[in-house]
Amino acid sequence: MTKTTASILIVDDDEAIRGLLSACLDPSYWCATAASVEEATRLLESNSFDLVLSDITMPGTSGLDFCGHVQKTCPRTVVVMISAMTDIQFAIEAMREGAFDYVTKPFELTRVKMAVDRALRYQRALEEKHRYEQELEQRVRIRTAELRSANEDLNFMLDTLYRNYRATLRGLARTLEARDIETRGHSDRVVAYSMRLGKKMGLPSNDLLALEQGALLHDIGKIGVPDAILLKPGSLTTDEWVKMREHVAHGLRIIEDVEFLSGARYVVGQHHEKYDGSGYPNKLRGDGIHIHARIFAIADAFDAIRSDRPYRAAQSYEKAREELIAHSGSHFDPRVVNAFMSIPEEEWEDIRCAQSEDSTEHIIDRSEISSFIFSLGAPEQVTSKLHALCA
Ligand SMILES: [Fe+2]
Ligand SMILES: [Fe+2]
Repeated sequence: MTKTTASILIVDDDEAIRGLLSACLDPSYWCATAASVEEATRLLESNSFDLVLSDITMPGTSGLDFCGHVQKTCPRTVVVMISAMTDIQFAIEAMREGAFDYVTKPFELTRVKMAVDRALRYQRALEEKHRYEQELEQRVRIRTAELRSANEDLNFMLDTLYRNYRATLRGLARTLEARDIETRGHSDRVVAYSMRLGKKMGLPSNDLLALEQGALLHDIGKIGVPDAILLKPGSLTTDEWVKMREHVAHGLRIIEDVEFLSGARYVVGQHHEKYDGSGYPNKLRGDGIHIHARIFAIADAFDAIRSDRPYRAAQSYEKAREELIAHSGSHFDPRVVNAFMSIPEEEWEDIRCAQSEDSTEHIIDRSEISSFIFSLGAPEQVTSKLHALCA
């Protein structure tokens, strides 16, 4: 039994032509015949054909309309029109409609066979192209799913890294609170106040990240101050003040070799400078003091005023406001004071009472946190995921 190599639908109202065409074509082709477009349409619904050979002029619906129908419903079925010489204009029209070729009646069988061979070659190319596109789409779908999953893994790792990084910084800051150097929760609150002020002053996200580090670690150098001075209940002597003020230099030394803490250096090194140049250690003044330190100075002072001290109870928001205004231009940068005043009291109180573990993530753009984590030197696990993403 001959293996079927193509399926062909022959449509012609002339029975003799249908018979002739079926008989003359290669025996490996499976041929179905229809005497009208209506019959052909039914056959097309229940069978798949590689090629349609259709007459143009038939009773009822014309072959021209059928050509358009085949194009729409079976885009990979190739149509060859059969046209009487007088129908040549229709044949041209049919080709405009998407017919692949036409043969004229009365036809020579060799010409018909050649047209059929050509059309079937074209049909196989169409089929091949379709298969290739399908395969490509499938590959794109699989790759997209892989990328999505890799991206989710990467985001998860970045989140984990960022949380660990912050937990480490906060652990350092809490060692100070544990020694009663600072009031409980001071570091978290000054971070939250600094972030809010930094945002108000339009600091970009990378600056906010650096300001956060600085606020958390501002007094890290106090670890290097002897307990006898640090925890002394009474007032300090002149020599003791000299030692106490050295905490700024100690702090800078502690962070100087830690590359990922380099953002903290402005607050750690300048948080006791004053706007009028009367601060320490370098008597910097005005904009000579880094904006991080000018912002932090207000966050630190506000928290000190609003917190209980061994020698006095926490003071009111109004008192804090008065203090900041009184020292605007001397201790504090007036622009930062103005930014503070433009934020409603309720908001400051919400931040103070939030006991928030993490206010930073709401303020800093997530993509900035990701690029910051990468700037720390992402571990191999992360970089290999990145390479997989980019491959
Ligand atoms: Fe300090
Ligand atoms: Fe402080």
